[in-house]
Amino acid sequence: FSSASSDVDAFIGCLSTSIPCNLVKTPGTNSYSELLMSTVQNLRAVLPGTTMPVVIIAVTEPAHVQATVVCGRRHSVRIRTRSGGHDYEGLSYASLNPDEHFAVLDLAELRTIDIDVARSEAWVGSGATIGELYYATAAANQTFGFPAGNCPTVGVGGHLSGGGFGALSRKYGLSADNVLDAVVVDAEGRLLNRSTMGEALFWAIRGGGAESFGVVVSWKVRFVPVPETVTVFSISRSRNQSAVELITRWQLIAPVLPRDLYLRVLVQNQQAAFVALFLGQCGRLVDTMRRYFPDLGMTEQDCQEMSWVKSTIFGYFKTANLPTEVLLNRTGTNYFLKVKSDHVRQLIPRQAWENIWDKWLEKPEAARVMLDPYGGFMGTISPSETPFPHRNYIYQLELFSSWFENGTETLEKRLSWLRGVHEDLTPYVSKNPRAVYANYRDIDLGTNELEGNVTSYEKARVWGEKYFKGNFERLASVKSKVDPEDFFRNEQSIPPLPAEK
Ligand code: FDA
Repeated sequence: FSSASSDVDAFIGCLSTSIPCNLVKTPGTNSYSELLMSTVQNLRAVLPGTTMPVVIIAVTEPAHVQATVVCGRRHSVRIRTRSGGHDYEGLSYASLNPDEHFAVLDLAELRTIDIDVARSEAWVGSGATIGELYYATAAANQTFGFPAGNCPTVGVGGHLSGGGFGALSRKYGLSADNVLDAVVVDAEGRLLNRSTMGEALFWAIRGGGAESFGVVVSWKVRFVPVPETVTVFSISRSRNQSAVELITRWQLIAPVLPRDLYLRVLVQNQQAAFVALFLGQCGRLVDTMRRYFPDLGMTEQDCQEMSWVKSTIFGYFKTANLPTEVLLNRTGTNYFLKVKSDHVRQLIPRQAWENIWDKWLEKPEAARVMLDPYGGFMGTISPSETPFPHRNYIYQLELFSSWFENGTETLEKRLSWLRGVHEDLTPYVSKNPRAVYANYRDIDLGTNELEGNVTSYEKARVWGEKYFKGNFERLASVKSKVDPEDFFRNEQSIPPLPAEK
């Protein structure tokens, strides 16, 4: 797989026998840059120094995906798959290897959402966004919901295959926990569903990151029941309004709240915002908050009652006063981005929060700190049920740094802030190994190295066990069965399990 330019020419020639040439974009043309940038969420991933695809294929049907895989293998051109382009390190469309010649399969046009109201199920194309899925779900029935993340422009393909955590997860688990079937193109170019791919591969693509195993074309998902009226609030407290004391208390309370209540904390601009989604009406929410968390002082005036779909808008835009169609907007704001994350099992003491606030949160380059509670249904699922193993923590902690100014100085400042806080958190967060959610990709955890023609299993364990703990070996075992030659490969793809293991 050296992929010389003659291989690339032969690859494009091969594509031309099955894919209309207007769907195959090569560098130098306007439509190439337009398509490349169309879903680039993180501008850091397209800075000079990263390698861009030699061709992008804007597929419109599953047969195009099959043809690309067959041609790629025949002519030694690897493939990266992009659904929504929200990978934190841009690995769906950029490579860190200056010598790599690869193609991108862009699935944005594979975004049909086909709903079976009677069965509370839908087939969703990987190229749909979760905003489009939320919109279609509620349009089908106001009492249907789907557990997924906060940002509506995230793609279904990457999100479901990496897990999918959000405001309904304490009640109904991850997106991946609510996947019933999937259609996948494997390394042989075959189109498989759950019964033809088998349970091992079906397990792997629900949280293990499908990029290592094939290309998921569509997903069959199960809707979950939500009431016609839900309630949200957002209450902000500054340092001198007891923000630190409240965060310290929150750690004990949020994971044991009733499953109908999701209460997260966002710390930004020296304010801690306590943001809630309650699957019920205001009166019951006020009673619950008084019983569990009286110190926050939540009252009826804080309540905003609305439909579930409006609550997804509130969760992201901080106001529900926008038309529901805002969820159909496929392009959000793009910026430079870097994220580090952890999981917490025992509460971080108040003094540690005081120190973090004093030393880090007052700096102008401070990231948004997000605390997302687990517990509830999440805590009842076995860590090996899906590849996502972090079920028994009390919450997840994310440092989300985003900025608009391009320049090395800003970049370095942002990165050193993140690495400094990450270091200072060491005594308080998950250990041996540190536990990281696979969808919050962090290249600092380690990158793959080759051993012969395939990715080294031993080297990959360094980053892989942080994402997947004991499930990493099982993922590698699936990989060795479905893609032993390691065709689907990137800097953090699952390697095949060596034969002697
Ligand atoms: P993208 O297309 O970049 O793909 C991500 C990875 O999946 C790549 O390795 C890619 O090759 C692979 N892939 C994508 N589609 C595939 C397919 N069809 N078949 C095989 N492999 C495929 N997460 C969360 O759980 N809760 C949240 O609230 C948020 N919020 C959030 C906000 C913002 C602003 C960002 C940028 C990200 C998040 N995320 C998140 C993280 C998000 O879930 C994660 O980045 C997803 O992988 C993004 O999926 P996309 O399809 O958009 O990414």
